[in-house]
Amino acid sequence: MTRPELIRIGVIGCGYWGPKHVRVFSEIANSSVTMVSDLREERLDHVRERYPGTRTTKDYRDLWNPDVEAVVIATPVSTHYTLAKEALLAGKHVLIEKPISFTSAEGEELVELADRYNRTLMVGHTFEYNPAVEYLRDYLASGKLGKLYYISGTRVNLGIFQKDINVMWDLAPHDLSILLFVLGMSPISVSASGQAYVQENIHDVAYLTLHFPGKVLAHIRVSWLDPCKIRRLTVVGSKKMIVYDDVEPTEKIKIYDKGVDVPPYSDTLEEFHLSYRYGDITTPHISLAEPLKLECEHFLHCIATGETPRSDGHSGVEVVRILEVAQRSLSNGSMQEPVR
Ligand SMILES: NC(=O)c1ccc[n+]([C@@H]2O[C@H](COP(=O)([O-])OP(=O)(O)OC[C@H]3O[C@@H](n4cnc5c(N)ncnc54)[C@H](O)[C@@H]3O)[C@@H](O)[C@H]2O)c1
Repeated sequence: MTRPELIRIGVIGCGYWGPKHVRVFSEIANSSVTMVSDLREERLDHVRERYPGTRTTKDYRDLWNPDVEAVVIATPVSTHYTLAKEALLAGKHVLIEKPISFTSAEGEELVELADRYNRTLMVGHTFEYNPAVEYLRDYLASGKLGKLYYISGTRVNLGIFQKDINVMWDLAPHDLSILLFVLGMSPISVSASGQAYVQENIHDVAYLTLHFPGKVLAHIRVSWLDPCKIRRLTVVGSKKMIVYDDVEPTEKIKIYDKGVDVPPYSDTLEEFHLSYRYGDITTPHISLAEPLKLECEHFLHCIATGETPRSDGHSGVEVVRILEVAQRSLSNGSMQEPVR
């Protein structure tokens, strides 16, 4: 058996999230992290201490050399488009953190550039690689849930407050990418409401309502201003109900055999109550593999084979398109806005 070729990775941005990419790509057998860039010297010190073989630089342009074949962009969103464009023009494959860009037009340009130069462009929609989310998608596709009614998501905790984006652009990309992946369809319309409490004009609390084809409704609550860390998605169907709790260490998915069977007719309230179904709660075995590792392995696989990534540039643009519409609604007194 031939060993897969070693792919040399450069990471731009080594704040909170970038070091996780550095760790994972250093751990994977067929990749090595050759260079890391950050504007802050102390972040580069951190990398040099842990990875003595990795070169560091304050100027990301140093990564446009043959020692780097693919770059991870883990910088603030306002820099994504410029960095990704330069990387693609320099002939690098790109794994860019979510959201892909500030505007869908910028994202589309990146997709076009990646196509033109035949490079892999992937977006860090980490949850699409989460085994619990894959389970959810397969369960819905199996029909066991019955008719899908609605989905309700909560992604809240205290911080981390961002300066260049509001909470919706920071946290909702996760839920939107999960919804698009699990449902395999885009919403018809979106509305959003929210409020800016701590930083002027930067919403720290937001509520999104999305209408999908087939009367499927989704509601997402995101907040940087909540005492509890909650990452939960409830999926309600006519036959089963599922709760996906990402904070749970092992039992991330619980399937409730609960529901309401409407009787053909009922004369009294007691008869109506009899139609509630309280069945078993099952907890399927879900792999505990690290989603970021699966994501990074998929990126390397796509570079090696030329396959289109699961979270490709188009899916990144679709998430941004929904965020743009939601942002319009947020500024329009929560009007329901069409997505197309
Ligand atoms: N997929 C996920 O689950 C996940 C989780 C957290 C953050 N993220 C994403 O990762 C990205 C970074 O977020 P973060 O929380 O790490 O931010 P951060 O502010 O902690 O880190 C960003 C780093 O980028 C550096 N930087 C900025 N401009 C640069 C440039 N031109 N060249 C080199 N370095 C530069 C900054 O100095 C900083 O250290 C964002 O897009 C965010 O949405 C994704």
